Amino acid sequence: MIIKSPFHTRVNGLFHTAISAVLLSQVAQAAPSDDFKTTENIAFYLRHQAFTETILQADPALSQENSGEMPHAASPYTVVSDSVYLNGHTLVATVQHDSTKVPLRVEVIFLKNGTVRVRAQEENPLLPRYDDTQKYVLRGEGNNLGYALASDLKHYRELVDGVKVHTVRYTNEHSAFSVRITEDPWSLTYLENNKPIIELNSKGRFHLEHLRPKPDPETIGDDVSGEWKETFLPFTDSKTRGPESFGMDINFIGFEHVYGIPGHATPLSLKTTNNEKDGYNMPYRLWNLDVFGYELDDPISLYGSIPFMVAHNIDTTVGVFWLNAAETLVDITREKRSNVDNDLPVVNTHWVSEAGVMDVFLMPGPSVADLYRQYTSLIEPTPLPREFALGYHMCRWSYLDQEDVLTVSEKMHEHDIPYDAIWLDIDYTDGMRYFTWDYSKFPDPVAMQKQLAHDGHKLVTIIDPHVKRDSSYRVWKEGNENGYFIKNNTSTKNYDGWCWPKESNWVDYLNPEASKWYSKQYHLDKYLDSTADLFIWNDMNEPSIFRMPEGTAEKNTKHYGDWEHRQVHNLYGMLNHRATFEGMLTRESPRKRPFILSRSYFAGSQRYGAIWTGDNIADWGYMRAAVQMVLSNNIAGMHFSGADVGGFVGNPEPELLIRWYQLGIWHPFFRTHSKKDTKRREPWLFGEPYLSIMRKAICERYRMLPYWYTLFREASLTGMPIVRPMWMEFPKDLDLFAKENTFMVGSSIMVAPSLDSDLTKPIDVTFPSQENWYNMYTHASYFAPIKRRFVTDLAQTLVYVRGGSIIPTRERQRRSSAFMKQDPFTLYVYVSRNDTASGKLYIDDGESYDYEKGAFIEREFVYAEDKLISRSSPFTMESAEHKAFLDKMNNVCIERVVMIGLTSQPTVAIIRENGAEREILLEYGNCRTGSKCVIRDPTVCIGNDWEIALN
Ligand code: NOJ
Repeated sequence: MIIKSPFHTRVNGLFHTAISAVLLSQVAQAAPSDDFKTTENIAFYLRHQAFTETILQADPALSQENSGEMPHAASPYTVVSDSVYLNGHTLVATVQHDSTKVPLRVEVIFLKNGTVRVRAQEENPLLPRYDDTQKYVLRGEGNNLGYALASDLKHYRELVDGVKVHTVRYTNEHSAFSVRITEDPWSLTYLENNKPIIELNSKGRFHLEHLRPKPDPETIGDDVSGEWKETFLPFTDSKTRGPESFGMDINFIGFEHVYGIPGHATPLSLKTTNNEKDGYNMPYRLWNLDVFGYELDDPISLYGSIPFMVAHNIDTTVGVFWLNAAETLVDITREKRSNVDNDLPVVNTHWVSEAGVMDVFLMPGPSVADLYRQYTSLIEPTPLPREFALGYHMCRWSYLDQEDVLTVSEKMHEHDIPYDAIWLDIDYTDGMRYFTWDYSKFPDPVAMQKQLAHDGHKLVTIIDPHVKRDSSYRVWKEGNENGYFIKNNTSTKNYDGWCWPKESNWVDYLNPEASKWYSKQYHLDKYLDSTADLFIWNDMNEPSIFRMPEGTAEKNTKHYGDWEHRQVHNLYGMLNHRATFEGMLTRESPRKRPFILSRSYFAGSQRYGAIWTGDNIADWGYMRAAVQMVLSNNIAGMHFSGADVGGFVGNPEPELLIRWYQLGIWHPFFRTHSKKDTKRREPWLFGEPYLSIMRKAICERYRMLPYWYTLFREASLTGMPIVRPMWMEFPKDLDLFAKENTFMVGSSIMVAPSLDSDLTKPIDVTFPSQENWYNMYTHASYFAPIKRRFVTDLAQTLVYVRGGSIIPTRERQRRSSAFMKQDPFTLYVYVSRNDTASGKLYIDDGESYDYEKGAFIEREFVYAEDKLISRSSPFTMESAEHKAFLDKMNNVCIERVVMIGLTSQPTVAIIRENGAEREILLEYGNCRTGSKCVIRDPTVCIGNDWEIALN
């Protein structure tokens, strides 16, 4: 089912922006929407289907080979004889279709770390193709990707079964890589250590529609193939550039599972798209759209998209990044190939994009960590966020007024519930003129922010990208006078559309001047009555445009440089997010880390802040989908993500809300949010026992903040996901490849969320590997590999720590993270089967960029041979800033060390720090198995080297 968007509901032939309560109450049985395209309405995709049909029919060998799910067909594309040459780090070939003969330039670019980039476009295009996606997405605008040295590349030519084959080989410290290109038909095989892992065009689906002169209008006629004109509902997309799409099959050899390409509300292990029984009968679509109350288990497009796919088997993890921001569809099929030893599993994928340059990166792994190093060396990892952003965010559409905001805040204090930020949705503005306030509701926004800040809280306001068309509104006036808005399809005037403020225009961030001007609107002297304690939420930035095809801009609207929206659509949200980031970054001097939540996203958005999964529903199924979606975003490098806790649409029963809190605290971004017509949901409104259980969950998030912040630090260095599917931590355990009822937070914590309304329904937990696991709260231990069933009451959650981990916490309950900065730490040492453990802690001021100059403390804790030591991490910088930070944290100590699972019973701890030695007598508390031993007040300092020996 797809719930009709409020923006797309048609009444009397007009699109109507109100959604009725009746519609809401019918959410569960809503009819499929005809407001969104299915593949029958996507002409370029249909043309690629038709191309496939043609080559299949033309292939005489097909009848014998048709057993695979994606039948092989000989590609009509061949390499032009003698056209292949190595030019520095790039192998260049001319490829052409055997009947059109249009020469295509194919470049295979070798990166030092084993990543191979393949690009294809016309050798002499009639018009330039859009190629700036790389500028917005890749590190250093794609200018410095770490190319292999030409002298390391060896190019061989050979004849295999009468076909010319080119092989380029090179090695790095881990592996030997080779790329094999066959000339007739053209295909590419990527091998790591002589094992083929990824093939391009081995199924013959490579096809590039060359740019061509526009035929005489008479010939275009009805244009059933949609090359020059395409109609959807009342909208006609006339295409001045004509067809320019391309597609290719990318096949993962030896793999059964592929993951990634968010955002979809679908299971983690991606399903096949040619089979409705176990999969879907349509491809995964990447075209950012506002799909209110989206359907579950459906590959339709949602708010963001990241064209990054990971394939994993027990030996290796590889990735493909399809760098394209136009509409893209991905089909997936599976087959078994006969192989000498047994049937080799293969995942066949077929990617088709409407415009741009074909540009794809193949990444060899082989480990998960290697893969993320390779991927984030392209798109950059998530930077360290502002620390408060990891706390609890309270949002609804909308808190009514200033008094409401301050009362909610007071009540949170009264009920001892910590929170970091309270949010204002669209109604705080003067008629949705962003950067303004409705002073009748918010008479003194500065006083409100000051009061909140005094109590340790931040304010987050929504700033949408539509600009109300109103000549008395400064922002619109300036944008209009300077020509900063997106233009209509003839570039003659602004592209006019509707959103919350009715008639609106949209800033064209492709225009560097427009983007800069937009950034400036966030400055304190422009965004009046905003203070340094105010942060931003960019919503509706797909962009969402009411009354337009699929609720977004028409594809032929024009951007700066005369590019069509078609070529850049999936970048739009990210560019809005980026401009906001740049504005917020220069609001204060010295700079502080911005926090911005965006709804729409693309590869690269991780650099600018967090995202959330959009308008979900207060329903158990949507909570389950939140697990999949947040993990899938993490797989694709969009780490800082979360879902509206409690569900945006509808009213959750208290049990659902509680379970969602208990899940949400284990997601990187943790915010409650709900729609305008929902009942208020502040925790105290539910009474006991619910209030206490919600408080307990939120406090747990705060207790774990040191672990979260340390994980974000790790992600900022390594690109590793923060929440991880089980297989990432246990890559050799086949049973886990499709598991999604448990997930890892970092490498130490496994969460088995309660996702069912029936509290008596048991939860199955697989404890993987040869480790022992501990229940985080009862300390009961489980010796893996083992499976267990649990039934939990509403107050209980299943969270396990992997033996061998040391987890830092802060246990003093405060109003917000702002008041925790000088709090002492507790270390939990969960010993492994060999009586060892290790862990990390990273701290800095949580807001500035001084950490870049060394103003941080990063410790490594190691427990072995009855001794716990703290040593500084190799990243520590011996700078003046580091020393100053150490001084600032001079009094911050470890107030408790809790040893869990010790096999021996030591009676005394000898503390050694700064050359001094003390003894502490130990206390014991018995757990169900193993024993817990508490070392109280070791008062060793967080910035020092120290040692605690147990005797
Ligand atoms: C749509 C967003 O998804 C939702 O979170 C927000 O409350 C509304 N827009 C109103 O701003």
